[in-house]
Amino acid sequence: MPEKLIIDTDPGIDDAMAIFFAMASPELEILGLTTTFGNVSVDQATINALNLLEMVGSSIPVARGISVPMFQTPLPFPDFVHGSDGFGNVNLPAPKGKAIDLSAAEFIVKTVLENPNEVTLVAVGPLGNLASALELEPRIAELTKKVIIMGGTILETGNVSPVAEANIYNDPHAADIVFSANWRVHMVGLDVTHKVTMNDELQARVRDSNPDFGQFLYDAGRFYADFYKASRGADGCFVHDASAVAYAINPDLFKVIDGPVRVATEGFAKGQTILKRAGYTYPENHWDVVTDSSVCMEVDEAALLSLYESTLTPQ
Ligand code: BDR
Ligand code: CA
Repeated sequence: MPEKLIIDTDPGIDDAMAIFFAMASPELEILGLTTTFGNVSVDQATINALNLLEMVGSSIPVARGISVPMFQTPLPFPDFVHGSDGFGNVNLPAPKGKAIDLSAAEFIVKTVLENPNEVTLVAVGPLGNLASALELEPRIAELTKKVIIMGGTILETGNVSPVAEANIYNDPHAADIVFSANWRVHMVGLDVTHKVTMNDELQARVRDSNPDFGQFLYDAGRFYADFYKASRGADGCFVHDASAVAYAINPDLFKVIDGPVRVATEGFAKGQTILKRAGYTYPENHWDVVTDSSVCMEVDEAALLSLYESTLTPQ
């Protein structure tokens, strides 16, 4: 039986890679996409999610989520990473479909309650929808099978500050609620995603195998790869959101450290994900009141890229 997933997303070029990767994987069954602000506004994210599904003729539901962070002032959208349309300025025509009437949080709650202990949440944007779902129905913490997020960093330098990763920084209060809830968060952050680089040749092979979405993904991927080449000297683009999907398919590709994680919500360390290692006791007890997370620290880059390519270039 494939794993049932909801992907919470702010598409986003690497979100698009992650969604097509998940849709092509026989190990996964996507029950719906929920959208959030992040790389673009939530309205654009919803349009983008619908467009991705229409490219492959999928009718899975899209539920529109929150438009702003829980407490902090909204930040500018990173058009220098994803383009002003979220897809590298390819400017797709408007989709025909519409989001469902349920909000993202309502859809998450309904789907988890209808499928107790069977649904994995894969969140690859800021975490406001998951935090809202927990507030709406706290029982989902016990009834969700697994929570996987792309976000945060422990040892690796951040990508919006020396200590913060973008998805967490965009809504740190929501992230702290999610890490503090009574469920284990599987964190796929920059400690591993900065160790996985997808080169242009791989992107071209995926393009050539997928007549319905390959050219789009390749064109959008030019913008994304150009950003990482120019800003980080990378030989292609870093694989952020698709790494969270890879974790859903095969967690053995990663090495993890377990321990409670809290998120700094204010000040110059805002958005920092702080892990308390096992075996230490401190007078400061903010970490002692939350469930352990599993934080990815190492990854088999070659195996992850091979899984991505083989899934998206079927023989
Ligand atoms: C994360 O931020 C967004 O730009 C990407 O889509 C990814 O989810 C990487 O920090
Ligand atoms: Ca994303």
